[in-house]
Amino acid sequence: MMTDILIAPSILSADFAKLGECVQAVDISGADWIHLDVMDGNFVPNISFGPSVIQSLRGVTSKTFDAHLMIEAVDTFLPEFKKAGCERITVHPESGPHIHRSLGLISSLGMKAGVALNPGTPVETIDNLIDMVDLVLVMSVNPGFGGQSFIESQLEKIRAVRSRINASGRDIRLQVDGGITPETAAKVVAAGADVLVAGTAVFKGGEKAYATNIKAIRDAALTGLG
Ligand code: DX5
Ligand code: ZN
Repeated sequence: MMTDILIAPSILSADFAKLGECVQAVDISGADWIHLDVMDGNFVPNISFGPSVIQSLRGVTSKTFDAHLMIEAVDTFLPEFKKAGCERITVHPESGPHIHRSLGLISSLGMKAGVALNPGTPVETIDNLIDMVDLVLVMSVNPGFGGQSFIESQLEKIRAVRSRINASGRDIRLQVDGGITPETAAKVVAAGADVLVAGTAVFKGGEKAYATNIKAIRDAALTGLG
């Protein structure tokens, strides 16, 4: 199992009036990846931003762009996210009729492919996909909004995904998204996660607090390695 822990701030919790500045600030404050929550108001009951905003942000940081697509008709938009500068794309099986095809398209466009499991989506969903993904995302809240509480029952799913990843022998990241704080970070890492998405817990307190916030999550996460 990988033992390096990555922190991916979700800019959904940033101040959209000064998004570029916020992304630069989390970059220099210790973010490993930039997590981009794309929402279309159909797949989830919220609308965020799309490829043109991402393309503008590409100019302000060289950190990995980790796009989490919560949109319908996902296949149609994949080339645009590539063009906008995303290195990684994660999609939900429920967002289109052919998840296998979507993951194949992401890889064929030269991006790393991730599959996301909602809190109610069974872990077995990845059994026929694991040979084609670079990342499995376990959602520890229902997608759509930042600031929700961590759903404890997902810890068992994280353990089940970790055991499948280890059995696969492939180099696959295990990401957790939703309600990550210093308190929950240790638990998800102990269960097998190695990439932690955090919105509220990173962006609270404004730019001067980002470095302290990221360090608090990272330090807590490392205690979960045991
Ligand atoms: C929810 C998003 C998350 C969310 C995390 O649909 O995928 O990335 O913004 O926010 P917090 O860390 O506030 O739970
Ligand atoms: Zn997300």
